[in-house]
Amino acid sequence: MTKVLKVNPDQPEFDAVLEAARMIQTGGLVAFPTETVYGLGAHGLSATAVRKIFEAKRRPSTDPLILHVASPLEVEMLTTVSAMRVLERQIDALSESFWPGALTLVLPRGSGVPLEVTGGGNTVAVRVPSHKVAQALIRAAGVPIAAPSANLFSRPSPTSAADVLEDLKDRVDIVLDGGPTEIGLESTVLDLTTSIPTLLRPGGVPLEELERVLGEVALPDEVVMDMTSIAPSPGMQIKHYAPRAKMVCLMGAVGMPLRAALKKEADAIVASGQRLGLLLCHSSMLSLEGINAERVNLGACSNQWFIASQLFTGLRALDRAGVDVILTHGFADTGLGRAINDRLYRASEGQVVHVEMVTGRPGKTVATPTVEDDLLRSLDEDLLG
Ligand code: TXA
Ligand code: MG
Repeated sequence: MTKVLKVNPDQPEFDAVLEAARMIQTGGLVAFPTETVYGLGAHGLSATAVRKIFEAKRRPSTDPLILHVASPLEVEMLTTVSAMRVLERQIDALSESFWPGALTLVLPRGSGVPLEVTGGGNTVAVRVPSHKVAQALIRAAGVPIAAPSANLFSRPSPTSAADVLEDLKDRVDIVLDGGPTEIGLESTVLDLTTSIPTLLRPGGVPLEELERVLGEVALPDEVVMDMTSIAPSPGMQIKHYAPRAKMVCLMGAVGMPLRAALKKEADAIVASGQRLGLLLCHSSMLSLEGINAERVNLGACSNQWFIASQLFTGLRALDRAGVDVILTHGFADTGLGRAINDRLYRASEGQVVHVEMVTGRPGKTVATPTVEDDLLRSLDEDLLG
């Protein structure tokens, strides 16, 4: 049986946190909110406790977990001290800028970290979350907490306690319900064990911000574009974050060609008798007004923080509404857009459609903005204001 304990996200109640912390100490599973998504936590230094995470999520044991600690000072005991010295400047600079927060660092594994946490490998992922409930839980438990996202393997990550229960009811001992999470997408995973720091998963801290602190950041060669190749980060297989409905994701700049393509797809889906779900930004949604569909509006296309916060929630809501197909589109690939597009790509199992960008190259028609484009853009900006 799963026990749900409501907690105030800003001032978590001591009793609830203590009960959850005892559960962690005694080898149980506790789902808890972080600023990114809900985590499924267990005692991070106990192999038996960590094994329960993989069972509950039905996740392959080769997919390593993140250890959550309360302060950067606790990172040293989880990695090898000599490696820590070599990496000290990078870790200090990154932790000063981004911790506590949505950045996970991959470091050489210290001998106290069970191989169950690291998927058998010699590196360990570490993060200092900022959410008050996560902080209180880690401090009360007094141990690092191993926690993947609290969803069944390959499903969208949970951004509320209800999402956790949808996937893991009676598979977790306690859920700390601290309301919806703020960012709504997982942390950025950065590998510091490579000669140039490597971005393994785009997330809540944008690449541009890492580059500002580190200079160069490498992107893994076309990160795992099929399910069979060996992943630099084993959790980066393509099928991930997937709703039950089939996804159709159009990638291209928001504008006339994209809207025309969305309309064509939407009409074809409805004509085929399938139930349609739309997960679109406001201006694209307006252009599909007459179509019979369930709708999740992602707001202004330029408001990446809002889009990120609604993405997984929206996928789950459309699933609950029972749609057969979810039609969506990608966004500008800068800032949080990189993580948003990555999740859309994986939720679509890589089956995205690239809508021709109309450029001024010879032989191509140049699309001049239409009155409709201008109108929709101003609507988008109004939403932002
Ligand atoms: O925001 C987040 O990161 C959330 C919250 C709960 O902290 N956690 C999360 O965990 O998203 P999970 O397990 O769903 O994703 C962790 C990712 C996976 O892609 C995993 O493969 C990668 O981090 N990872 C973990 N340890 C690693 C390691 N030693 N080397 C390379 N990749 C690693
Ligand atoms: Mg996950």
